[in-house]
Amino acid sequence: MPKPETNLDDKKVLATLNQILELELAGVVRYMHYSFMIFGHQRIPITAWLRKQADESLAHSVLAGEHITRSGATLRCASASCSRRTSTRSTRSSTRPTRTRRRA
Ligand SMILES: [Fe+2]
Repeated sequence: MPKPETNLDDKKVLATLNQILELELAGVVRYMHYSFMIFGHQRIPITAWLRKQADESLAHSVLAGEHITRSGATLRCASASCSRRTSTRSTRSSTRPTRTRRRA
């Protein structure tokens, strides 16, 4: 299927999506980390709020990651634990990747 005509700059869109992905994943880590730092009698509602925010950040990161994958580009590794950092292949984003799997 040919790619629809748009005025969007694929390179900028992918860069923004990768930035969103990185920020959302960082949010998941931070919210969870802070949720483990709460002590005292108000711990339960505060940790619940922080973990709800982590869930929301995770959901947003899934959306951004799925958009990047759907475009055929490679995800930039957002985790500090990743040993290698892959860049988006923005030139691929202008053409749809060849699919090896076929729908049944
Ligand atoms: Fe978000």
